[in-house]
Amino acid sequence: MADQDESGAPREFHADVPQATEGFFLKGAAHQDWGIKNRLASIFDPRTGRTVMLAFDHGYFQGPTTGLERIDLSIVPLIPFADTLMLTRGVLRSVIPPTAGAAIVLRASGGPSILKELSDERLALDVEDAVRLNAAALAVQVFVGGAHETQSIHNLTRLVDLGQRFGIPVLAVTAVGKEMVRDAKYLRLATRICAELGAHYVKTYYVAEGFDTVTSCCPVPIVIAGGKKLPELDALRMAHDAVRSGALGVDMGRNIFQSEAPAAMLQAVRAVVHGGETPERAHELFRSLAAAR
Ligand code: 5RP
Repeated sequence: MADQDESGAPREFHADVPQATEGFFLKGAAHQDWGIKNRLASIFDPRTGRTVMLAFDHGYFQGPTTGLERIDLSIVPLIPFADTLMLTRGVLRSVIPPTAGAAIVLRASGGPSILKELSDERLALDVEDAVRLNAAALAVQVFVGGAHETQSIHNLTRLVDLGQRFGIPVLAVTAVGKEMVRDAKYLRLATRICAELGAHYVKTYYVAEGFDTVTSCCPVPIVIAGGKKLPELDALRMAHDAVRSGALGVDMGRNIFQSEAPAAMLQAVRAVVHGGETPERAHELFRSLAAAR
C-alpha cells in the first residue's frame, strides 16, 4: 500500500526516477568539494563558463595609482557590471558596500612596495578573516624565475592548504619580472607550476603567439590580466583573442578604470567575454555607451 501524508494524499517517492548526478562546468574542478565549486560558480558565470573580474588591488604595492585615487568614486559605480571584484581587505572593509552583489576575490599576499624587490612577498591574510569577509577566492602572487621564487611558491602552497580546509579557491597570479621574456614558453611554465601545486585557477598575461598552448597545458582555468592601458579597441581585441585561445575570462584593471569611460568599457568587455561579440562590435557598444553618459 502506498504511503499517505496526514491529509491522505499519496506521497511521491519517485522510485522510478534515478537521481541526476550533475557534472561541474568548470575545467579541472570536477573533483573539488562543494564549497570550492559553489564559490567558483559565483566567480565564473555557469551560463557562459566565463568571468569578468574587475581588478583594483594595485594599491597593495603601488599606493594610489592613476584611476584608483578615490575608489569610492571611480570603482563603486562599476560594481554592477563586474562578476567579481579583486581587491584588498583594507579597501573591501573601508569602501565597498556589503550590498555589492559581485563575488569577492581577496588579495592574500603582499609585503614589498614598488620601492623594493617585488617578489619578496609573504602571505598577508589570515584565512579566518577571509571567511569572515565571505571571500569567494584568495589571490596570491607567484614569481616563477623571480629572486624569491621559492618563497612565493611556498605562499601559494600554504594558501592552497588553507583554502582546501575552508572551501575557498585560490587564484595564482603569475607575476612576470621586467627581466623575463613574456612569451608562451615562459607562461606555460609559470601557469603549469601554479596548477600543479594546487591553484584552482590562474591569472596570467596574454601573448599573441601560442597562447592556446598556454591554456591547453594548464589543467585549471586561466584568466588574463589586462596590463598597461591600451586604446579601447586594442584591449577589446586582446580580451577577444584570449577567450578565443581558451582563456575563461579576464581580470582587468587599468584598461577599465583608466579608460575615458570605465563603465562603458566594462560593459564592452562583458559583451566580448560573455556575449561572444567581435571586438569591433563591442567597440561600437563602448562608443555609444560612452557618448550617452
Ligand atoms: C597586481 C594584480 C592586478 O590585479 C593585475 O595586474 C590586474 O590589473 P591590470 O589589468 O591593471 O594589469 O594582480 O599585481
